[in-house]
Amino acid sequence: MAGTSFQGRDVISINDFSKEELLHVLSVAKKLESNPQPSLLKGKILASLFFEPSTRTRLSFASAMKRVGGDVIGFSQAETTSVKKGETLWDTIKMIEHYSDVIVIRHSVEGAARLSAEAASIPVINAGDGANQHPTQTLLDLYTILKEKGKLDNLTIGFLGDLKYGRTVHSLAIALSHFKTSIYFIAPEALRMPSYYIQELKKRKIPCRETSDLDSVAKQLDILYVTRIQEERFPDPLEYQKFKAGYRIDRSLLKISKPGIRIMHPLPRVGEIDPALDETPNAVYFRQAANGIPIRQAILALVLGKAK
Ligand code: CP
Repeated sequence: MAGTSFQGRDVISINDFSKEELLHVLSVAKKLESNPQPSLLKGKILASLFFEPSTRTRLSFASAMKRVGGDVIGFSQAETTSVKKGETLWDTIKMIEHYSDVIVIRHSVEGAARLSAEAASIPVINAGDGANQHPTQTLLDLYTILKEKGKLDNLTIGFLGDLKYGRTVHSLAIALSHFKTSIYFIAPEALRMPSYYIQELKKRKIPCRETSDLDSVAKQLDILYVTRIQEERFPDPLEYQKFKAGYRIDRSLLKISKPGIRIMHPLPRVGEIDPALDETPNAVYFRQAANGIPIRQAILALVLGKAK
């Protein structure tokens, strides 16, 4: 997404965004949140193609579109489409580009969103491709950090959990490299952050350290970004069983962490955060999910040329 105009652009990888573009999306989201525009995308159709399960991304894109006057078509199960009869992703996209103005796609295969963008003459937005990227989640994560901490610079962020397969961590770590951040990657040895990302961050002069011990770094964190173990990405189910109950945070964390720490999670959670934390001011994951609406409205309006 390089250049000065967003109109007609695809949103495939956070690597395609400059710092100015990231901040611009956040600024458009802020305006739409404080000044709703119920007719902004009237007459526009979003094709929502979910080849993998989703609650937040699929429904918040649909809600975002409808709240600015647009329509939504699509599917949430590939089994109900002609893919089941053997139709290729390429051919599927070549049809849908005539039925809609913008495509949102989630797929289990890394690169599926990029391929779709090559096939389509309309903007394609990646809603998650395998363990690769989830750029709109990253934008709502940045928006959440900005709203909660009032800044994106001079923060220490800890990522906890399955950093190997967690695509939201991959995208967010790269986005944070545009800002003055320090990062701790906290994971069991077998689920460490892929070395590609560590090397990339070091190249960008971002201080980042790896540990498997949350308690030893909790005092330094402004944000703790927790992720679930990505069961669906494990090639061996027995391997998943080994890590399933590997970590869980609860209120005792607040006794050893920085006052004001914010706990984020892209959700769904499957046991790694004790619900007793939900009522604390530190837990922001539900507010984080709600931020998906203004961020996705901003992205849709920008790529459709309805916001500057
Ligand atoms: N955060 C996120 O991507 O959630 P869903 O899988 O429910 O869309």
